[in-house]
Amino acid sequence: MDVYEAVTSRRAVRGFTDRPVPKEVLERVLSAAAWSPSGSNLQPWNIYVVTGAPLAELKKRAGERVTAGDPWDEREYEMYPPQLKSPYRERRSAFGHERYSALGVAREDWEARQRAASANWNCFGASAALFCYIDRDLGRPQWADVGMYLQTVMLLLRDEGLHSCAQMAWSVYRKTVADILSPPDELILFCGMSIGYEDVTVRYTRTGRAPLDETVKFVQG
Ligand SMILES: Cc1cc2nc3c(=O)[nH]c(=O)nc-3n(C[C@H](O)[C@H](O)[C@H](O)COP(=O)(O)O)c2cc1C
Repeated sequence: MDVYEAVTSRRAVRGFTDRPVPKEVLERVLSAAAWSPSGSNLQPWNIYVVTGAPLAELKKRAGERVTAGDPWDEREYEMYPPQLKSPYRERRSAFGHERYSALGVAREDWEARQRAASANWNCFGASAALFCYIDRDLGRPQWADVGMYLQTVMLLLRDEGLHSCAQMAWSVYRKTVADILSPPDELILFCGMSIGYEDVTVRYTRTGRAPLDETVKFVQG
């Protein structure tokens, strides 16, 4: 698979089969992803890979919290600014429309949207997940480094015939994640990532992108 194909075939997959992901594949991917760039080579990513019984336990505990209507854990970072301005507001709204219309869920059907969202905490059925932490002392450039690392992981997964879905949703149940992983206190959970083999029977709409001239300016001499 060439890089263009890896980039364009990666998407947020939200339906996986229960086929296990071999540990050696995950090791190969994460060993290669370690070559991702980072400012001054800090390599600020702290990754926990979870499969088998611990993942089943995590899904169970998170599911119990969803069912109980347990309040979310207090935030350690804001996922989005409270007042999302244009053009981001419109892009988020278009994404919501694409995501929920593929599931046949109406925009105003809040309960059905919540049900669909709760699949996050079952890792959309995936048999493997990773959790990405960053040291709370580090700043915005290091968070950007972590993003590059995660994209590298997702592209390498494509080369292995695997799919993924990055999930900030896990940050709202970060204490449950911590109960399973016992990370040191100095780490903040940025996101989880479901990893596995796609369930091709799950319907989806490919999310669109802004036209190139909306996000890129060529300044030519
Ligand atoms: C850091 C990050 C966090 C994300 N968190 C979630 C999440 O919690 N749940 C989810 O279903 N999708 C999540 N996504 C997936 C995005 O919604 C998705 O990447 C975006 O809509 C573009 O769609 P595509 O990846 O299918 O091209 C996340 C993506 C990123 C990069």
